[in-house]
Amino acid sequence: MFQINENYQKLPGSYLFSTIAKKVSAYQAANPDKSLIRLGIGDVTQPIAPAIIEAMHKAVDEMGHAETFRGYAPDLGYDFLRKAIVENDYQAKGCGISEDEVFVSDGAKSDSANIQEIFGEKNRIAVCDPVYPVYVDSNVMAGRTGTYDAKTETWSDVIYMPCTAENNFVPEFPKETPDLIYLCLPNNPTGTTLTKDQLQEWVDYANKAGAVIIYDAAYEAYISETDVPHSIYECEGAKTCAIELRSFSKNAGFTGVRLGFTVVPKELTCGDVSLNAMWARRHGTKFNGAPYIVQRAGEAVYSEAGKAQLKEQVAYYMKNAKTIKEGLKESGYTVFGGVNAPYIWLKTPNHMSSWDFFDYLLENANVVGTPGSGFGPSGEGYFRLTAFGNYENTVKALERIRAL
Ligand code: MLT
Repeated sequence: MFQINENYQKLPGSYLFSTIAKKVSAYQAANPDKSLIRLGIGDVTQPIAPAIIEAMHKAVDEMGHAETFRGYAPDLGYDFLRKAIVENDYQAKGCGISEDEVFVSDGAKSDSANIQEIFGEKNRIAVCDPVYPVYVDSNVMAGRTGTYDAKTETWSDVIYMPCTAENNFVPEFPKETPDLIYLCLPNNPTGTTLTKDQLQEWVDYANKAGAVIIYDAAYEAYISETDVPHSIYECEGAKTCAIELRSFSKNAGFTGVRLGFTVVPKELTCGDVSLNAMWARRHGTKFNGAPYIVQRAGEAVYSEAGKAQLKEQVAYYMKNAKTIKEGLKESGYTVFGGVNAPYIWLKTPNHMSSWDFFDYLLENANVVGTPGSGFGPSGEGYFRLTAFGNYENTVKALERIRAL
């Protein structure tokens, strides 16, 4: 008789955004006349930029001719894309990352869930609290998190680093020493970030502790302040302790196109074992490469026209962020984030719980957001709104919230 991976049975509830989608569908089915504004999941709304569409069309045409047709993509990514990534995202910022340290994938969500596979079962993970749920859930599935306490909504073997208004959303070094440290900066969900000096302290800490930082930089395109690093490799010593995850979803609107990459520096080793070689082995075995058409689209992100168009797209979303932030402040809310990230993190009014505020906003303003407690216990009493809606709906949502 076969057995299942019992670790899956330990997972409480469904994936956060699936739970929300189900709740929202049920509400919409019961109230078909209500027009909902969705500022919940961080899904983009603006069309793919013209320079990227043009590159995709060209690649589609190439696939229709024998001379230019492509089959399996190289499993680690096409050279043209890895070269564009290295030149634009790293060398241009003074980070000495080379093409064979870049692994192209179908997005940062899967990479952030899969990366734990190359680490030992007994590794202790440390996460910010609140946190993007994929980091914890993927470690639960791998059996690394111990037992779940439904009361505190925490796992016995996970080290939580609370990030709240009280500590200015800056994680403190944990008392117990972790082996893997997940950092998402700019942060999802709080929309806050660390300065380069603050991140340098984490790099120094990880090198000293012999820990690896899994650095999720999916939102780096939204950074507006100069002392905030775009890559962890801007910090000295990061190549011996950090893996960086990047996404094309938020900077180029690829949530439905799917493209991302992971950087594993060759200097990152465990004894004489190279993590770069391990990830290459894993990628080669389990992944057949992102589609050629999509990788050409990715290359166009770095073209002059692509860069100019995407700068406008990011500015569009950041105008939404400002609209939400200022609108909420005017209505008396306490708000964070929204300056270097497309997320606004607010305190729920009158000490309402996060889920109560979710229901209240859904039923009374027909606005969908994300309850802070869905990201971890320290998210209780907070709520997240995304700036990825369209501008008209964002303005309308704020009008409705103001009228409550
Ligand atoms: C979010 O809303 O947190 C993100 O869209 C989720 C994701 O990127 O997978």
